[in-house]
Amino acid sequence: MVLLALSAAHCTRPQLAEAVDSYLSTQTTGQTSTFKERFDNSTWLGYYENGRNLDINSGILNTPLPITHNRTIYDTTSCATYTEVIVNSTANPHVIGTQLRFTNDKINKIDTIVTKPGDWLFNITGYAYWVEQENWSTIPEAGRDTRATIKAAADAYCDVFSNSSVTVPWGTPCVRLEGGLYGDAGPNGTCSGFIPTGVPITNRRYVIDETVGTVDIISDFGKSKWPDTHEFRVEGGKLRYVHTMTHCGVPNCGVKKRGIS
Ligand SMILES: *[C@@H]1O[C@H](CO)[C@@H](O)[C@H](O)[C@H]1NC(C)=O
Ligand SMILES: *[C@@H]1O[C@H](CO)[C@@H](O)[C@H](O)[C@H]1NC(C)=O
Ligand SMILES: *[C@@H]1O[C@H](CO)[C@@H](O)[C@H](O)[C@H]1NC(C)=O
Ligand SMILES: *[C@@H]1O[C@H](CO)[C@@H](O)[C@H](O)[C@H]1NC(C)=O
Ligand SMILES: *[C@@H]1O[C@H](CO)[C@@H](O)[C@H](O)[C@H]1NC(C)=O
Ligand SMILES: *[C@@H]1O[C@H](CO)[C@@H](O)[C@H](O)[C@H]1NC(C)=O
Repeated sequence: MVLLALSAAHCTRPQLAEAVDSYLSTQTTGQTSTFKERFDNSTWLGYYENGRNLDINSGILNTPLPITHNRTIYDTTSCATYTEVIVNSTANPHVIGTQLRFTNDKINKIDTIVTKPGDWLFNITGYAYWVEQENWSTIPEAGRDTRATIKAAADAYCDVFSNSSVTVPWGTPCVRLEGGLYGDAGPNGTCSGFIPTGVPITNRRYVIDETVGTVDIISDFGKSKWPDTHEFRVEGGKLRYVHTMTHCGVPNCGVKKRGIS
């Protein structure tokens, strides 16, 4: 009985992948009707865009966008997915991070961070270029970290923004892609630079995929609670890559651009 109940709570990758395909084609066409048939109305928790609970009919999914890159992680334990979407266009560039959550094999929550020019360090050519240089592929089973290890590495990163005593398992190299700005891609690259203090990262929503050593966290970033996603690639318990998107609603979150000013 217990085993049955446990396995019933899990999902399969093909089921989740089918829903993600539908999500991507919806964003490509701007037509939401067939996607909405996948919603579980009885347990529906809402469509959240940049932290705001919106009517999906007024969301970004109604705008057709020519997607040029997508990569998804699948959490078969929590029944959730996270997809990184890039629209490398000069006319209407976007970088979007979307979590889907499921019950009864249907979607019951959408949480999406939508970024475009003006958002934190946004640079579409940078984002589109650097993601192609990285390796987020499947980690051979024998070398995989546990869910707990992957989550702990990401939590340590988030915690150190408000508690400098936290030990973060920095990888060597570790490189961060922030809006479009890239760190040192070389063998000595580090993600430990530019970490502020007094910046709480709260209301964390996780999607974890052990097969690729990856966790995504959508959160309220800092005291201003900027809608934010941080996706982490963990290898051997250590942080290898970090991708961030932060929506602020004011140019570059009111901060002078790093590396430019
Ligand atoms: C998403 O990426 C996969 C390759 O990873 C590709 O086959 C598919 O066409 C892409 N989908 C869209 C809508 O761009
Ligand atoms: C955007 O990123 C590209 C590729 O890294 C870089 O060449 C370019 O200078 C960046 N643009 C700005 C405005 O930072
Ligand atoms: C992104 O688009 C620009 C402008 O169209 C193009 O020059 C660049 O090669 C594209 N980047 C990638 C990674 O495809
Ligand atoms: C990419 O990462 C995987 C998992 O760590 C590894 O098995 C593979 O060799 C890597 N590929 C390249 C081209 O480095
Ligand atoms: C800060 O981190 C240290 C080390 O993990 C921990 O012992 C301490 O309780 C943390 N402080 C707060 C306020 O969370
Ligand atoms: C990396 O650091 C090592 C040790 O400090 C140094 O010898 C090496 O030249 C550095 N490599 C690069 C590409 O900076």
